[in-house]
Amino acid sequence: MASPSATPARFFNLDERDYAAAEQRCRALLARMTLAEKVGQMSQFTSDRDTTGPSIREGYQDDIREGRVGSIFNAFDADFTRQLQTLAVNESRLGVPLLFGYDVVHGFRTIFPIPLAMASSWHSEGVEAAARVAATEAAAAGIHWAFAPMVDVSRDARWGRVMEGAGEDPLLSSRMASAQVRGYQGHDPRALDSVAACVKHYAGYGAAEAGRDYNSVDLSERVMRSVHLPPHQAAVNAGVASVMTSFNTVDGVPASCNALLLRQILRDEWQFRGLVVTDYTAIMELLEHGVAADPRDAARLAVNAGVDMDMQDGYFLDHLAELVEADDVSAARIDEATLRVLILKDVLGLFEDPYRYCDEAREAAALLAPEHRRKAREMAQQSMVLLENNDLLPLSPAPQRLAVIGELADSRADLLGPWHGDGQAQDARTLLAALKDRLSGAEVCYHAGVPIDIDDTASRQREIAEAITIAQQAEVAVVVVGEKEPMSGEAASRTDLGLPGQQLALALAVIASGTPTVVVTLSGRPLVLSELTAALTGQSAALLHGWWPGSEGAEALVDLLLGDVSPCARLPMSFPRNVGQLPLYYGQLPTGRPVFRENPDPRYSSKYIDSPNTPLYPFGYGLSYTHVDYATPQLDKPTLTGPNDQLTLSIELTNTGERDGVEVVQLYLRDPVASISRPIRELIDFQRIEIAAGARERISFVIRAEQLGFIGSDLRWRCEAGRFELHIGAHVEDTQMLTFDYQP
Ligand code: NOJ
Repeated sequence: MASPSATPARFFNLDERDYAAAEQRCRALLARMTLAEKVGQMSQFTSDRDTTGPSIREGYQDDIREGRVGSIFNAFDADFTRQLQTLAVNESRLGVPLLFGYDVVHGFRTIFPIPLAMASSWHSEGVEAAARVAATEAAAAGIHWAFAPMVDVSRDARWGRVMEGAGEDPLLSSRMASAQVRGYQGHDPRALDSVAACVKHYAGYGAAEAGRDYNSVDLSERVMRSVHLPPHQAAVNAGVASVMTSFNTVDGVPASCNALLLRQILRDEWQFRGLVVTDYTAIMELLEHGVAADPRDAARLAVNAGVDMDMQDGYFLDHLAELVEADDVSAARIDEATLRVLILKDVLGLFEDPYRYCDEAREAAALLAPEHRRKAREMAQQSMVLLENNDLLPLSPAPQRLAVIGELADSRADLLGPWHGDGQAQDARTLLAALKDRLSGAEVCYHAGVPIDIDDTASRQREIAEAITIAQQAEVAVVVVGEKEPMSGEAASRTDLGLPGQQLALALAVIASGTPTVVVTLSGRPLVLSELTAALTGQSAALLHGWWPGSEGAEALVDLLLGDVSPCARLPMSFPRNVGQLPLYYGQLPTGRPVFRENPDPRYSSKYIDSPNTPLYPFGYGLSYTHVDYATPQLDKPTLTGPNDQLTLSIELTNTGERDGVEVVQLYLRDPVASISRPIRELIDFQRIEIAAGARERISFVIRAEQLGFIGSDLRWRCEAGRFELHIGAHVEDTQMLTFDYQP
């Protein structure tokens, strides 16, 4: 049977003829280039547009004139990119246009919820549409190349960058990865709203030891291939134009000079044809990793392993020519890398018109277009996860006296998240303003509560007492707590995942005031909410996790609170009970001493003596304002007889509530006996369906042999005969089981 990795990769959705024509044109140009000009194409630098500090290369504009730069990043807007492009086109010898890159991670000017939030929607089409909006805005502002999607699977919420990915699961991450690639790149690279995507960070970065950013990674090649590589491969199969190497080592070899990753897997196995760029100064960091003796050595290792473009450290620019002259790097390798850069420029149409992305009128029309804002609001509604609801939400009829409490309720910047492109706080409203607006006529009182980033117990008593007073005078209190923008994201690992500062004390006090309380949590990662959740028990209270919801986040939150829309998101990452459980994920291997089996001496089973093993909120979990019943599932036959055979599982769902809803039906597999130990559960498919109040729907899943396969200890993909379990339900801990046999 062919392994899933046998799918042929297509670069930027081009058909063979168009690719060959682009290659031919670029080879003609390559033949006219000097070695120095080729190395220039392989070098990328940040502009001084939006960064300050020593990392900016002095005189990069002269480098452009001299043909020593192939790409600039962090430069945007039609006017500025035109100025820089003019230097390259009019003043460099061959006039090769620049490629402008930027981190367009969850929107460019209209900011969508953070990617982890968007993954909570389990809505591939919505995520694709979000990336389409981001591409449309970015392309109108001069950008050709988005450094996205970020697809690092991560099972450790201490790592601040979990906010950029799709969480802990390879299948959900893969679906989100391909949806984003389709969204950024569109159908035609020549279209003026298409940008090249860049899947990152290749690879294993999400498994940083102890959740500490930039830390080393040690994974077996089997786990790397089974868990961390699938979303990258999904992006490659969706036609992604480029790949960014990660900062970390893998099994002692930094990803940015890792020939197994960059040559064998990416090129030989996946047939990837696009461009490989490093992450920021990752070649320089080969010295710190202790694998390169000096900058020249670092450049040699990276280029020979397969890196095509050097982001920011200038090591290629400074050393490649000399390395070629010394025969330490082949001229063919330089040609191969340069050609990839040129082909990308060619397919984007930059040789025909280097200024086609710099158009002020298009830019003015695209940024924050009403349609973009509408989509951002819809995506935010679909991304917020209702964790608890003790008969309080929706607030209908709308309260006449509302207390709004917490610094985050009056913040705009913190709604956007740290990778907010050109998103601006002034484009967003605060939750407080949105509530006041929508509850016109009602009395809305606000108290900022306790400061988030100062853990000041002395002043906390007074502030909390004031907050309780306004809560007691209201019909309902809405307490907004969580992380401020710098608390998740790059270089923002944390060891304490509770609510920062004295916010837990604030929330507990308001809940205890006796006024029905909605707690809204905002953050870039799963938080530890155990004490908060315990305090909600028996109270009229609710807990809504809003992540960082973007420019339209406040409006969307109000839509959910007032019941204009029902929540429908499901967690893409387990929420731990406490930090000591991390890394925590549903797809664990069974242990020889499980706690759920009868055990004569429970002390010697795999567990903690001070905490359950299970998460506080499991993968796939989320409530809504309605209820969907699952009937008994059925399989059309008991046996799958070969690689081309298929089974159909069907199940009837009934919306027994009074509101229309969206259900995310999740299908998990377990292979109880195999040649290697297999995960307790593995998500193999899901469907997100709209189901009207009172309606009954029958849905079905087709199961094929390839979904049963795995990578064995010989690193080969295989599918073994035997009995399998299917678990279908509303989240990983709420499923019904069926079995079937695979007998090829
Ligand atoms: C470093 C980050 O790791 C990467 O994700 C980003 O694309 C680059 N900086 C460029 O900003």
